[in-house]
Order: sequence, then structure tokens, then C-alpha cells
Amino acid sequence: MDLVMQEVFFLFFFGSLAISAETSSSQKLEPTTTYIVQMSGISMPESFKSKLNWYSSVLNAVKLHDESLQQQQQQQQLLGHASLLHIYTTVFHGFSATLTEREALALQNTPGVLGLFPDKLKQLHTTHTPQFLGLNPVQGLWPESTFGADVIIGTLDTGIWPESLSFKDQALGPVPARWKGGCENGTDFNVSSSCNRKLIGAKFFCKGYEAMAGPINESLELRSPRDSDGHGTHTASTAAGRDVFPASMMGYAAGTARGMAPEARIAVYKVCWAQGCFDSDILAAFDQAVSDGVDVISLSVGGAALVPFYLDSIAIGAFGAMKRGIFVACSAGNSGPEALSVSNLAPWVTTVGASTLDRDFPADVLLSNNASFHGVSLYSGPGLGTQLLPLIYAANASAPGDPFAASLCMAGSLDPSLVAGKIVLCDRGITPRVAKGEAVLAVGGAGMILANTESDGEGLIADAHVLPATAVGALEGAAIKDFIKNTVNPKALLSFHGTEMNVKPSPVVASFSSRGPNGQNPEIMKPDLIAPGVNILAAWTGDMGPTGLATDNRRVSFNIISGTSMSCPHVSGLAALLKAVHPSWSPAAIRSALMTTASILDNTHGGMQDEATGNISTPFGFGAGIVQPQKAMDPGLIYDLGVEDYVSFLCGLNYTDAMIQLIINHDDEEEGATAVSCTMSAGDPPPAATPLLLPQQLNYPSFSVIFNQVSSSSSSILSTKLTRTVTNVGQARAVYTATVLAPEGVTISVMPSTLSFVAVNQKLSFTVQVNTSSVKSLVPGDFLTVFGFLTWSDKIHSVQSPIGITRQESF
Ligand SMILES: *[C@@H]1O[C@H](CO)[C@@H](O)[C@H](O)[C@H]1NC(C)=O
Ligand SMILES: *[C@@H]1O[C@H](CO)[C@@H](O)[C@H](O)[C@H]1NC(C)=O
Ligand SMILES: *[C@@H]1O[C@H](CO)[C@@H](O)[C@H](O)[C@H]1NC(C)=O
Ligand SMILES: *[C@@H]1O[C@H](CO)[C@@H](O)[C@H](O)[C@H]1NC(C)=O
Ligand SMILES: *[C@@H]1O[C@H](CO)[C@@H](O)[C@H](O)[C@H]1NC(C)=O
Ligand SMILES: *[C@@H]1O[C@H](CO)[C@@H](O)[C@H](O)[C@H]1NC(C)=O
Ligand SMILES: *[C@@H]1O[C@H](CO)[C@@H](O)[C@H](O)[C@H]1NC(C)=O
Ligand SMILES: *[C@@H]1O[C@H](CO)[C@@H](O)[C@H](O)[C@H]1NC(C)=O
Repeated sequence: MDLVMQEVFFLFFFGSLAISAETSSSQKLEPTTTYIVQMSGISMPESFKSKLNWYSSVLNAVKLHDESLQQQQQQQQLLGHASLLHIYTTVFHGFSATLTEREALALQNTPGVLGLFPDKLKQLHTTHTPQFLGLNPVQGLWPESTFGADVIIGTLDTGIWPESLSFKDQALGPVPARWKGGCENGTDFNVSSSCNRKLIGAKFFCKGYEAMAGPINESLELRSPRDSDGHGTHTASTAAGRDVFPASMMGYAAGTARGMAPEARIAVYKVCWAQGCFDSDILAAFDQAVSDGVDVISLSVGGAALVPFYLDSIAIGAFGAMKRGIFVACSAGNSGPEALSVSNLAPWVTTVGASTLDRDFPADVLLSNNASFHGVSLYSGPGLGTQLLPLIYAANASAPGDPFAASLCMAGSLDPSLVAGKIVLCDRGITPRVAKGEAVLAVGGAGMILANTESDGEGLIADAHVLPATAVGALEGAAIKDFIKNTVNPKALLSFHGTEMNVKPSPVVASFSSRGPNGQNPEIMKPDLIAPGVNILAAWTGDMGPTGLATDNRRVSFNIISGTSMSCPHVSGLAALLKAVHPSWSPAAIRSALMTTASILDNTHGGMQDEATGNISTPFGFGAGIVQPQKAMDPGLIYDLGVEDYVSFLCGLNYTDAMIQLIINHDDEEEGATAVSCTMSAGDPPPAATPLLLPQQLNYPSFSVIFNQVSSSSSSILSTKLTRTVTNVGQARAVYTATVLAPEGVTISVMPSTLSFVAVNQKLSFTVQVNTSSVKSLVPGDFLTVFGFLTWSDKIHSVQSPIGITRQESF
């Protein structure tokens, strides 16, 4: 999950995988793994009646083939088709199954098998935002799109809490007739009472999860579409929640809660469970969502490791969706502010980073020397009064054992006699922020100051702590520690100030939001754009308190949480609105409209800042900028892309035809079985071959130039040309002029610098030439990126693209 609780997940993740590995080896059988197997869509032997028939036979053949596995085989036969998990029919042809490594190898060489890869675990990445983004009920995108009515948004997440008022169907028209999906009964989920004209689909996918992580613990989570976590309910209502008034999280952020596309329909596909979300289940959900007929897919999930697109379930599933005109938005990840941390990198996915909004929850620290520090909190219980209380650094209150664990306020690490009645300063990291509060409360602490460490920087996340507590930045934390160290009887007071509005500057790029460059193919800049993802109010599950702690017995209808998980559904909802206004636009056109109209300024009209440094951010932080939906409705020009462009791009990445086939699945009856064949040389491609496109030449709405410097090179001038084609979607007659903002030391020229359109949907091309000199200070492997901007303007529209210029020293 791209919820900013990474701290939690890392713990669960390592713990649980270790356990499942042990169970499988203790069975004295060869260990098995789930594999996702891609089959040819056209070469099914005629002797088989159905795909299921064929796949079972292929699977049985490799199993029987392996004599030494007879015992396991018999066991599995007793379990029926236990080893066949999901059948995929839409985003690609194939199945997932539990196999031993030997079986997987045998399967690889079976006719009809195109490829296979092992299942991996992914993690979830976590409203006043409509107003903040400029949406207006009486003018512009909302009324023009009828608030997204009849657009269907599919969310792949932890399920849904159907009773939330955000999902009521009052005054909504009938379910769109083209909808082929539906809801699925399950534990505590009754289709007849849970689904309605708002929540039109609800299914769950756990076969892959259970095969790898063991049976779902039904006392903790439900084998049904019902959300016992909260994340899925939050993201779905952010994308498409109805108006709910009054809404607040225990008094904080009070007002009307509302999603981006409040009339859009929601279909939920539950793929994430206690330990995360498996590729095989994610793919099954993509497959289902696409065949059900969703228009937009929202996926706030990501994997940590960089994997090529042909091994990445999200890239594969999203390609299948894009092929059918479905817009896919994914969270960028919460691994910022480190460079190269952005995930979900496929160029057919819209990758969303996170910003703050102009709302804050101040909770300040006053020290006994009268120094005061700004913090944030969503604590809502009784305060600590106006008396200063003794203050201690947790590292100085260690129970016998581990002072490092104590500094982090890990459960059981603190000495009650040193902590009782005091305010305890805890360092952020390893355990969930709210769990530290729980640990302090458990040993009698009166309050907590949660201090960022240097690696967290100054980014603050407000939490619904279980005791009076506030979060402060790294500089503040260091100053308070200094004070404690140098003061006899240090004391402090915490004061909570509720909800503050009109905070300046905002938006600011969230510290945790994952940053570029793109580690997979740096010629495509990622993230694409940002949307609000800090302290977002949206609907919550009734099964879990606002902190997500097992001991938190509070129940809230709305919760405030942070993460690129929260920013992603904003973009999904906006895409649904744009789809309603422009039904013929491709997913790339919708993304282009959102990107080229985005803003790189904040509400003080200055350049958008980076929360981690306080400096002006860059396109590696904000991509094309923060979305401005009212402008995206009428972008003037779009940079469009279709399936063939992406295939040429993959050819240009030097993927083999077979690898590309795994991603694009053109091996399909309906599509005339055009297997891909990249042309390996320039010049006229042979008929039916796909021309090769250098990755930087993909018709993307942002530009990224990579110069690989060779130290020995005599020429110090680096030069390259990028070509783009824009489509006129504004007035038929329009004259656009290019304006370039080039960074120091770089010349950028645009040819032609004027584009004169005479028709709607007319396409015109231009080139951007980037010249610069090499940078001698770089060491091999190091890179330096500077940024410029290109803006096409016809005086009505402003079509802006970031340009990244990277100089990298070759090894
Ligand atoms: C769900 O369960 C209810 C009650 O048992 C039943 O009436 C209904 O047909 C079931 N619906 C589906 C889609 O299985
Ligand atoms: C499901 O909900 C319907 C409508 O509220 C109700 O009539 C039915 O009894 C419920 N079924 C079960 C199994 O709870
Ligand atoms: C399921 O969760 C409950 C509550 O945490 C726990 O007591 C129980 O041991 C778990 N069961 C299994 C099989 O892990
Ligand atoms: C803090 O401020 C109070 C009130 O303004 C004042 O009485 C007190 O002397 C100050 N203490 C220190 C340590 O400056
Ligand atoms: C408190 O802990 C810090 C860091 O571990 C240490 O430097 C300092 O000496 C300790 N102070 C006391 C009074 O123990
Ligand atoms: C922030 O900006 C200052 C002044 O331009 C610069 O010295 C510093 O290196 C920048 N910090 C980061 C982390 O980029
Ligand atoms: C692809 O291979 C060609 C020829 O070896 C090379 O010039 C080019 O840089 C490679 N492209 C990528 C993206 O690796
Ligand atoms: C950029 O470099 C190219 C090739 O070296 C050269 O032809 C062109 O004139 C240069 N353009 C500018 C604006 O310097």
C-alpha cells in the first residue's frame, strides 16, 4: 500500500515471508511458488474444449512428467485443482499456479507457453481537496461532466465498507447498461444489501495470496469484498465518494467530504490483504475489471524493486487496460525524498506523486525556556492542561536492554519508572508512528513528541494518536534534544490548535513522495504529476480505528491519512470527469491534458517547494506539476499516444520480441494475431514489422534528454533532437507560439516555433533541440540533471511540459 505507514509494512513483510518459507519446507516437499503463466491466445490445440481444459492439461503434463513428485501430485489431486489459481482471459491469456521450480522449468518449454514469472508481493502505498484543486459545483469540469455520472472507476485495493454514506446511491440514475460486472457475496458481505447503483461491483481475489502467505486469518480479515483495513474505503471515496455533510475525523477537517467524481460508479476489486498484495491476484483483478467494463483503474500499490515491464504485473495488467481505452493511475510510492525512488514506471500508466494542501493541524511544543516549535497532530482526547510537564528523551528512559529500541519508543523498550507522567520525545522510524504513542501510553507516559530523524527531513504527517502527541521536523527534534540535554528539569507543554486553513505556502511536494529520475528508463520522466496526498480526509472502515492499531477501539466514519495512495485516486477521479466530458480521448490524451495544464507554482505564486528541503522542488518531485482540473478540461493541445507507439518504444528499449509479446499480448484471436516483430535497423521496416523508437522520442508530454558523457571524448558539445506531435483539441483555427525556459548552460531551440492549426484534431510536429556542454566534475556513474520548460501558447491555452537534461558520466 502506498500509505505512509511503510514503517509498518517492512516489519510485517519480513516477518511473514520468513514464516511462509518455513512452512513450505517443513512439509518435506519441494518448495513451491506461484507462477504467472502467459499462454498463446491462438495456438490452443483443437482437441481441447476450453482454455481451462487446455491449461489443466498443460499443468498436469509437467506435474506427471516429474516422477519424483508423485507424492505431492497425489496430495494435490486430493485437493482437486488446488494448484491452478486464476485463469486470465482479458488483459492476457494464461493462468497462475503453484509450481516447483522444476515444474516451472518444464512448463517454460511446453508448446503454447509464452513465458512465466514468479508471483511477488506488492504493498499498498495511503476533503477539502475539490476546492483546493479549484473544482466548482456550478462552473467548469464538475457540471460539464455531470460529476462523472456513468463513468465507472475500478479500484484495486483492500475492499470497501459499503455502509459508508460516501457510497449511497440516492438520486443516481440506473447502472450503465454496458456494465458487465457485479458483486460477489462473502463473509459479512451480502450483495443484495451492500451493492447499489453507486457501488456496482465488489469482488475479492485471494487465491494467490493464500497460496503464498497461507490461509487468511478470518478473525482478522474477511474473505469477502468488505474492507477490514480502511485503505480501500479511503481511496474509493477519494476518487468517487458522494457528498457527505457533516463529515470530520473526530472534529478535525470538519466540512463536506466529497470525492473527485462524486457521481461516478465504483467497482472494487480487493487484492490486498494483511501482508500485502500478490501479483497473481492483481492481474486477476485487472483481467476482471477490464472485462467488466470499467473506464478508469486506480491502483495505490507498488513493488519496491525495479523489475522490467515484462515481469511486472501492474505494467502488464495496465497495458491490457490501456489497449481497451481504460485510464490507469498508480501511486508513485512513499520512498522519497531519495532520488530514483519512484515506482510504477510504465509509460502507459499515469504515475502520481503527493503534495500537501492548504490545510494543517497544528499542535505546538512549548519548552520551559519559552522556545516554541510547530508540530502537527490529529489527537482528539483531553489535553494536558496548561502546566508544563517533565520532558525526557526516550533514549534516556530505556528499560534494561536496548537504548536504540527505546529511542524509537518500541513496545516494551521503555522503563515505566522513568517515563510515568512525562512527555516523551521519540524518534521516528521502524515502527508505525502511532504505535510509538501506544508504547508510551502503555508505560504511563503523559504525552509524546515524535521527532523526525535526519532522513525524514522536515515533512510532517498528522496522526490520530492514542495519547496527547505531536510530530515535529528533524531540525526541531534536534533542538528539543539539545534543550533536554542541557537543561536541569526540562519541561514542555503540548497545545493542540485544531484545523487551520489557508496555509501558505501550499501545495508543497510531500517529503515522502517518491522522486525521479525513472530508474527503469530515464528517458521518460516520472512521476508524471502530483495531487494532494497529505492529511486527506475520506471514508473509513467500521472494522478498524483511525490509527490501524489493534488496541485502538475508536471507530470513525472518516479518517485522515497520508500517502501517494491518497493522491492517486484524486487523479483517477479527475480522469473519470475528463472521460465524461471527452469520451473519445485516449488514456494518453487524458494524461496529457492533466500534465500540460498542471501548475508548478504555489499559493504565494512562488515556485512549488520541496517539503524535505524547503528549496524549490523540481520535475523529479512534482513531475509536470499539481493538477488543475478546470484547465485540464480544455488543454488546447494534447500529446497523444496509442498502442503502436508503446510497442515501438519497447522495441527501442531493446526488449526482445518475446519479451514485448509478454507485455502487449497481441497474440489474440480478436486482434488478428499480429505477433510483434521489432525492426532492428533504421531505414524502411519490412511490412508488418514494428519500427523502433528511441525511448526519448515517445510522444510523451514531458521531455527527458540523457547525455552519456564519455570522459575521453574530445568534443565537449552535447546535442540531441526530440520530435513530438501535438493534436489540436481546442478551436479549429489557432496559432501556438513556443516559449522556452532553459536552465543555465543549456540551449533549447524549438523548430518550428509557431504552429498554425486550421482544424480540430489536426496534428502538427515539431522538434526540440537541446545543446549543452559536458560537465567535467562528474565521476563515472554520477549524473546531474537540470530542468527547463517548453510552453505552447495561443494566448488562451498554455500547454506546458517539463524538460529534464541529464548528463551522466559513463563508466
Ligand atoms: C448472495 O447471497 C444471497 C443470500 O444468501 C443470495 O440471495 C444471492 O443470490 C447471492 N448473490 C450472489 C451474486 O451470489
Ligand atoms: C441480504 O440482504 C437482503 C436485503 O437487505 C436481505 O433480505 C437478506 O436477508 C440478506 N441475506 C443474508 C444472508 O443476510
Ligand atoms: C488469527 O489472529 C488472531 C488474533 O490476532 C490470533 O489470536 C490467532 O492466533 C491467529 N490465527 C492464526 C492461525 O494465525
Ligand atoms: C518565559 O516567559 C514568561 C512570560 O513571558 C516569563 O515570565 C519567563 O521569565 C520566561 N522564561 C524564560 C526562561 O525566559
Ligand atoms: C541521553 O541520551 C543521549 C543519547 O543517547 C546521551 O547522549 C545523553 O548523555 C543521555 N543523557 C542522560 C542524562 O542520560
Ligand atoms: C537548497 O538550496 C540551497 C541554496 O540554493 C543549496 O545550498 C542547498 O544545497 C539546497 N539543498 C538541497 C538539499 O538541495
Ligand atoms: C539498444 O541497443 C543499441 C545498440 O546496441 C544501443 O545503442 C542503445 O543504447 C540501446 N538502447 C537502450 C535503451 O538500452
Ligand atoms: C546545437 O548543436 C547543433 C549540432 O551541433 C548545431 O547545428 C546547432 O546550431 C546548435 N544550436 C544552438 C542553438 O546552439
